[in-house]
Amino acid sequence: MKVTRFGHTCVVGLCWGDEGKGKIVDLLTEHFDVVVRYNGGANAGHTVRFDGQRFALHLVPAGVLHANVVGVIGPGVALDPLIVLQELGELKQRGIDLGWDSPDKRLRISDRAHVVMPYHKLEDQLSEARLPPDRRIGTTARGIGPCYADKMHRTPAIRVGDLRHLDLLRERLAQILEGKNRIFHGLFGEGLSLDADELAGEYHQHGRRLEEFIGDTTVWLQQAAADGKRLLFEGAHGTLLDIDHGTFPYVSSSSSALGVAPGAGVPARLVRTFVGVAKAYATRVGEGPFPSELKDDIGQRIRDRGNEYGTTTRRPRRCGWFDAVAARYAVMLGGISKVALMHLDTLSGLAEVGICTAYRYAHTDAASNHFSADAYELSRARPVLEMLPGWTEELGEARCLGDLPWNARRFVARLEELLRVRIVIVSVGPDRDQTIFCGTPEAKP
Ligand code: GDP
Ligand code: IMO
Ligand code: MG
Repeated sequence: MKVTRFGHTCVVGLCWGDEGKGKIVDLLTEHFDVVVRYNGGANAGHTVRFDGQRFALHLVPAGVLHANVVGVIGPGVALDPLIVLQELGELKQRGIDLGWDSPDKRLRISDRAHVVMPYHKLEDQLSEARLPPDRRIGTTARGIGPCYADKMHRTPAIRVGDLRHLDLLRERLAQILEGKNRIFHGLFGEGLSLDADELAGEYHQHGRRLEEFIGDTTVWLQQAAADGKRLLFEGAHGTLLDIDHGTFPYVSSSSSALGVAPGAGVPARLVRTFVGVAKAYATRVGEGPFPSELKDDIGQRIRDRGNEYGTTTRRPRRCGWFDAVAARYAVMLGGISKVALMHLDTLSGLAEVGICTAYRYAHTDAASNHFSADAYELSRARPVLEMLPGWTEELGEARCLGDLPWNARRFVARLEELLRVRIVIVSVGPDRDQTIFCGTPEAKP
């Protein structure tokens, strides 16, 4: 796999998040100079494992775990300064200093990114809690929806650059809190116990602690590309959680592959390769339609073997068979030309492994390979399953396709056929080295 031929590259999830993007970003990063988060916020949780260490990053790009790589948090991110500060502190404690107090900065934060404030997190929780359980989205309660809502509304929004100006913050927060108090009283029956001056002082302090990282990342990225630096874009969430193209309203509040240009501040044509990441089965956290879901012992077995518990909220993830209809839709939407298939090891020991190849919608009995992004329609779709023989061998030691049992290879080949794009990586465990680069051995990066 000649990663150097990829050009500027974006890694995106093909499902409902947690596909293993963190591991793939980490694997690809050695071929790039800059790694950019461009969507979502601390609702994301990207895990990387190597040399017996585990890192789970929510806002700082996972690529910074490689020395010399610069991480960028772009304008499209909903940024919680408390989480960035916490992550920077934890990384420093573990020997990864991104340049606090040194001229060698390895993190850049866009002054245009929107700030997640305490009232956003509260609103996220309270607005879910007031809904009947079957209407809830099951958000991560990280304040993402309310923060992006304020961004679109514009007047109640605070951007990272605003944190630098104490007077401005005081004035803006006094106005914002006055409005929010009315809304909170009306909607939730309780006001906010936040003082504008105190909050302004607190967030101004956060801004000061991050000051040396904050700037115009849009111009910086354009210049980096012009200087020949190779850029890797680290998508958060997954295509089926995309605000416009996912299973609305059971989605997150930002765009997936299609959001890279506005979210990072680069022309769309700059990004040459989109790598899609999918597990060998499907998972989803929170509510919303999931046609291939397994609510039985097999689903529980996959959850246990795959350690399918949320990186951000520790909630058990719902598990089901690989959904080729949904994944094919995500491949088409994102212009995906290469796929990384994760967690093949998790399926070992099953007598049969399933693939959802079509849906039967409620209004017709005919099998359809159309992915409906209408949540109501999709929630009533029944999966058409193709069952393939399973394998008993553990796969964690496999390093080339030839090391895999025949039935596992057959399963991968069938997925490739259904997706109609090359599977270039097969992952057989969480660690960096538990990876198969498909193709000839000399084509390994
Ligand atoms: P992301 O949000 O897409 O980065 O994915 P998460 O980090 O939230 O979840 C993926 C989980 O699967 C993490 O705990 C990874 O360490 C783990 N993981 C990644 N690839 C594999 C794999 O091939 N096999 C197994 N068993 N675990 C994996
Ligand atoms: P990564 O980047 C899995 C889901 C939440 C919920 C819905 C809306 O780790 O793959 P939100 O807090 O965004 O308003 O929640 O979206 N969700 C994710 N699920 N992985 C993620 O990110 C997710 N980001 C959001 O569980 O169902
Ligand atoms: Mg995750």
